[in-house]
Amino acid sequence: MKFLQFSVLPFLMVILSVSGANLTHHPHRDFLRCLSLRIENSCTITYTHNNPSYPSVLNASIQNTRFSTPTTPKPYAIITPRKTSDVQSTIFCSKNHGFQLRIRSGGHDVEGVSYVSQVPFVVLDLVNFRDVKVDTKNEVAWVQSGATTGELYYGIAAKTQTLGFPAGICHTIGIGGHLSGGGFGILGRKYGLAADHIIDAKMVDANGRVLHRKSMGEDLFWAIRGGGGNTFGVVLAWKIKLVPVPPVVTVFTVNKNLEQNATKIFHRWQQIAHKLPNDLFTTVWVMKVNSSQVGKKTVEASFKGLFLGRIDELIPLIQYAFPELGLARENCTQMSWVQSVLYFGALPIEPVEILLNRSALPRLSLKAKTDYIREPMSEAGFEGFMNMFLEEGTDLAITMMEAFGGKMDEIRENEIPFPHRSGVLFESVYIVQWINEEDAGLCINWMRRLYNYMSSYASKSLREAYYNYKDLDLGINNVNGYTSYEQASVWGLKYFKNNFKRLVRVKTMIDPTNFFSNEQSTPPLLSP
Ligand code: FDA
Repeated sequence: MKFLQFSVLPFLMVILSVSGANLTHHPHRDFLRCLSLRIENSCTITYTHNNPSYPSVLNASIQNTRFSTPTTPKPYAIITPRKTSDVQSTIFCSKNHGFQLRIRSGGHDVEGVSYVSQVPFVVLDLVNFRDVKVDTKNEVAWVQSGATTGELYYGIAAKTQTLGFPAGICHTIGIGGHLSGGGFGILGRKYGLAADHIIDAKMVDANGRVLHRKSMGEDLFWAIRGGGGNTFGVVLAWKIKLVPVPPVVTVFTVNKNLEQNATKIFHRWQQIAHKLPNDLFTTVWVMKVNSSQVGKKTVEASFKGLFLGRIDELIPLIQYAFPELGLARENCTQMSWVQSVLYFGALPIEPVEILLNRSALPRLSLKAKTDYIREPMSEAGFEGFMNMFLEEGTDLAITMMEAFGGKMDEIRENEIPFPHRSGVLFESVYIVQWINEEDAGLCINWMRRLYNYMSSYASKSLREAYYNYKDLDLGINNVNGYTSYEQASVWGLKYFKNNFKRLVRVKTMIDPTNFFSNEQSTPPLLSP
């Protein structure tokens, strides 16, 4: 390591005063000194525990409050880089001073993996990497990882009403985690995943090299499009292909509870939803609601849809293909595509500037799991599933069953790492939330029982799961020491099926010492 040079001394003092560090007694002072020597004349700030802003910077994007309790392990430092060279420096110093690096973009990791670790760690927070540059002429955009999907959607809609992007429903999720894990949303049946539309990327690897598509090679470029963030490097920005959307789309909601034939209608839905025209995406949200009898609860299946066209075309289409739903004109509303994103996010559709509000959604504690359903559930099976929502611990539970088929069926399983394609009827996302810490056990146990219940209906030979809703119940890497291919396959095959083998090969090639690691990162093979 270089000796402290006179020229950098003033800057070192700035960093140390911002971080509130005490050079003489702090055990990790070498890390800070390393950073201060490398990060010169930059607005990048390093926050450590002693800095008054540390808690607010740490909590700023934590969506799952389950991981922001006093006992949650905290990073030694949070670095908020403004320049690529500062990202390189952070990697260099973390590596050389024994800190694990967690990368955070939007902070929506459902298991808190971007800002919690069981070993000494620092967080690289990309909150300042959030440019969105939309080029309508070429129908592409460059979007930095720290931007949210809402900022991307807003940026596109500010320029044109006839282009969109097929990413997730929630507008506060970060581009970095979302695109590196797949990204399914309301345009999924028409166009596929967000990751299917990545055409270039800029990343920094474990050796500090800045790579683009050409220089990283097709294997690594394949891996970062859905193979999991924080396994291969820090992706700073993505070039994406935009997709056509009509200026007017139609959304609808039809609510049916247990007493209103919800199970029968669902039974029909799962048989036809994946076969409907690609312009029509439907989803069923199951949750507990108040019954019409005072003081009683029931369970509701809320059938929602987005049609890339007008009401007048939608109504006859549904009347022909899915008359059981009883869709009426008053269930439907016409709006722009960007407003439909807010509609599915259960937010007011105006003003669309809400898309820029990163704190628009309530932040609660949660646990999530996912399934891919390839064979229809029996009516009794679905009724049993709904009835589980009447148990204790389910006040804030929801399951979102999202129809697949369409474009999702057409893309090969190994095109990118996300493998859940042809033959999937719907993706099932189970979420349970709670407000009071003491309800955590009850709610998580319920979630695990619900997941067990669904085992007879989920994909059979291998129970598939969606990496973007990580589930550490499926298994984790060893905290210290090597994790074998066999051990990691337990969750790796569920997330990526046979693509897991290629991910391991890419990981072994790009990061053989496993610098980028987390609870469910893909491990490299040991060198012989
Ligand atoms: P966060 O910053 O927490 O990162 C998630 C993971 O990616 C971590 O492992 C992190 O280290 C890594 N990572 C982040 N930035 C990186 C970078 N620049 N380079 C390398 N690695 C990086 N999914 C979906 O498909 N459709 C949906 O509609 C939704 N909706 C939704 C709503 C809500 C409320 C939540 C909490 C989650 C979703 N998701 C979702 C899941 C979401 O796509 C997933 O959690 C993403 O990983 C979140 O990305 P963030 O950048 O926000 O997370």
